Amino acid sequence: AALALAGAAFPAMAAKPLVMGFSQVGAESEWRTANTVSVKDAAKKAGVNLKFADAQQRQENQVKAIRSFIAQKVDVIAFSPVVESGWDTVLREAKAANIPVILTDRDVNVADKSLYVTLIGSDFVEEGRRAGRWLNEYAKKQPGKTFNIVELQGTVGSAPAIDRKTGFDEVTKGNAQLKLLRTQTAEFTRAKGKEVMEAFLKAHGKNINVLYAHNDDMAIGAIQAIEEAGLKPGKDIVIVSVDGVRGAFEAMIQGKLNVTVECNPLLGPLLMQTAKDVKAGKQVPKRLVVEERVFPAEVALKEFPNRKY
Ligand code: AHR
Repeated sequence: AALALAGAAFPAMAAKPLVMGFSQVGAESEWRTANTVSVKDAAKKAGVNLKFADAQQRQENQVKAIRSFIAQKVDVIAFSPVVESGWDTVLREAKAANIPVILTDRDVNVADKSLYVTLIGSDFVEEGRRAGRWLNEYAKKQPGKTFNIVELQGTVGSAPAIDRKTGFDEVTKGNAQLKLLRTQTAEFTRAKGKEVMEAFLKAHGKNINVLYAHNDDMAIGAIQAIEEAGLKPGKDIVIVSVDGVRGAFEAMIQGKLNVTVECNPLLGPLLMQTAKDVKAGKQVPKRLVVEERVFPAEVALKEFPNRKY
């Protein structure tokens, strides 16, 4: 209270708000929209002056935004890197300018880990494992049957696309009932999910038994393609996806999606707290992992009212 009074009497003594430059991947999915809302709301609540830049899924836009944050001498830079590689130079520039960098959501592949303070977000490999384990259990209930899988991957070179594939492959590779027919990127969007699924259906038609989509938006796009091909999503083709957004719950309630593995986008409050801790010189863990669950269609109706995004 004394400080606040002093601040009112002598404005120069009032605590200056922390200035954060945040470079967001884009607006490619329902997940991303929820993540952006979370970051903006949390900044407002925490009194952080947020400079927000949307990179429209392009790394060069993120590099430009980071350079502009450095030029503006922000207190902290936070960003969700669209792809893993190619960050060494710009992160060295931030380090030379003494501006701490916090990664949110996605990881970078840099030799010098001191180029960022911490990574806040999900364990994408574990998400892929959870999707694969669900499918292993599903297949086990129909012994002797082979399941032909098509996979819609996320953005090429992005941490969630690489890790969700790694985790899924790791737990399913020994399962003789599962066979991967096709795998292709659909860039985490509904439009591409529909387009690539149409191509898969044209090539393989009724031979496809399972779709593994690296996010719900691609699964939702693919559901449209499956219906337009005269097949029943969730029945003729079993669908496993990742994120747990409202659209996925709606699809599960309608019987069109079989399971979604949660990926939590509500990273804003933890990001703001971490930025304040870093600014105050506190030690923060190199990795902050958020808690997540698996939601099969059977629980969708009950869980829907509790969903926050
Ligand atoms: O990085 C997280 C992923 O990015 C989400 O799973 C996906 O929906 C988003 O586009």
